[in-house]
Amino acid sequence: MAAAHKVIVALDYANLADAKSLVSQLKPEYCNLKVGKELFTATGPALIDYLHSKNFKVFLDLKFHDIPSTVKKACEAASQLGVWMINVHASGGAIMLEAALEAVSKAKQPPLLIAVTVLTSMDQKTLEEIGVTRNLEDQVLRLAKLAEKSRLNGIVCSARDLVFLRNHFNPSFLFVTPGIRMTEDATNDQIRTMTPFEAMKSGSSHLVIGRPITQSKDPSKTLEKIFLEINQS
Ligand code: C5P
Repeated sequence: MAAAHKVIVALDYANLADAKSLVSQLKPEYCNLKVGKELFTATGPALIDYLHSKNFKVFLDLKFHDIPSTVKKACEAASQLGVWMINVHASGGAIMLEAALEAVSKAKQPPLLIAVTVLTSMDQKTLEEIGVTRNLEDQVLRLAKLAEKSRLNGIVCSARDLVFLRNHFNPSFLFVTPGIRMTEDATNDQIRTMTPFEAMKSGSSHLVIGRPITQSKDPSKTLEKIFLEINQS
């Protein structure tokens, strides 16, 4: 896999101007970009067209979770934007996942389709609140297996989960991992972090990195440093 596609910079901004200002400092040779709910809701597809015009590949992180026919239509609409990757919640169940895959497969340029298992903001107590009594790691594995069985391309998870996940999946299954920090970074609200090097060694396919790059004094230099670190792994 080309190193350029391993780093995904999270464009966690509220408006187009701020997003454009960061993007102007980045190069598509070094990273892909992630657009989430806040920015996409504020800007709509115009932003995606802009990023494509600058030759960036886009992960549209909208985490669809709804009845199968609605998710299918949402995935069709997302696929028509020509994005590189989209995602859905695995907890929507097999029929929903298969509907999403069907939509993606019909696209002219099918994006990669990945699943969210258990959000990293959830812990054992939160699972119990929604009636899941199984151990959190078992629940992550169960949902990841459901995504694999439904022929999705991979999952989003913490790089730390790869210790118990990686061996259960074939090497082509993608593990997209947020919560990445360089040793000198503040952890912010991420609890279980890993460095880019450690995450790649553990079997991550792609690293989602937000604040260490977006809040850096020199985003371009920080990205380059991460790129070099990854190429040692
Ligand atoms: O700034 P930071 O590097 O923590 O950003 C991480 C990005 O990854 C954010 O866009 C966040 O929403 C996303 N994310 C996450 N944990 C997940 C899934 C996505 O931090 N489980």
